[in-house]
Amino acid sequence: MSNIIDGNAYATNLRQTMAGEVAELQQKAGKAPGLTVILVGEDPASQVYVRKKGEQAKEVGFISTEHRLPETTSQEELLALVDQLNNDSEIHGILCQLPLPSHIDEKTVLNAIDPDKDVDGFHPVNVGRLSIGEESLLPCTPHGSVHLIKHALGDNLSGKNAVVIGRSNIVGKPMAALLLAESCTVTIVHSRTQNIEEICRQADIVVAAVGRPEMVNADWIKEGACVIDVGINRIQRDGKNKLVGDVDFASASEKAAHITPVPGGVGPMTIAMLLLNTLTAFKRLENLN
Ligand code: GUN
Repeated sequence: MSNIIDGNAYATNLRQTMAGEVAELQQKAGKAPGLTVILVGEDPASQVYVRKKGEQAKEVGFISTEHRLPETTSQEELLALVDQLNNDSEIHGILCQLPLPSHIDEKTVLNAIDPDKDVDGFHPVNVGRLSIGEESLLPCTPHGSVHLIKHALGDNLSGKNAVVIGRSNIVGKPMAALLLAESCTVTIVHSRTQNIEEICRQADIVVAAVGRPEMVNADWIKEGACVIDVGINRIQRDGKNKLVGDVDFASASEKAAHITPVPGGVGPMTIAMLLLNTLTAFKRLENLN
């Protein structure tokens, strides 16, 4: 029987700790951390995410604002808003919800956000800082995954064999950088990798981030491994809609010592890390360290 890592409980705990710190820091700074989320258009999934982000930001004592712009917003208008927010001393974190409408270039917009307010950790300056081990705002999903790995295995991950499945800029690559910074021996495997199952079977830590429903089963897992499932896939089974990860949970949990469920594993950690980044940005921008 494996230990099921409870991301909801961990994230709730973290929000309570942050709320205490925010209350204290607010006294010193004379203001609360300000997080603003930009949403362009009406994408239903994005609307749910943005609402959740706002609710949880308020729960920890942040000033949470939203800019909901119509689908027809031009890139210039969006860039003008980003510029205004970059220069607003009440705002410490800026997040532009993706995807953006197709007439707007995502890269141009993300690169316009002040790196010190880039609470997604997507700006090339933050990506570069992470890769050379400088302090940076870390991408939320991989950062949340590292928290869960340490929660399961303890703080010292040095020398562990880690395999990251997937090489995306948002998860796979930064995940590998974070595990390397923890002195793990890191391998990234992807769609062109040969003997992928054999490589995964060597891993003390497996992080699956490919977006392929239930691809990773017990045959890929070493007895006693820690398995982190970043996948969120909507599938139809027995005529019903179901949310599953990249890991076949029923099978993999027979071998893993620690495993995250979907939903309720990595997912809740992503917003918790967004809040943590906002708190970090607040402390740096207000010189509270
Ligand atoms: N859309 C889906 N996930 C994310 C995220 O983590 N950040 C942003 N900005 N947009 C998203």
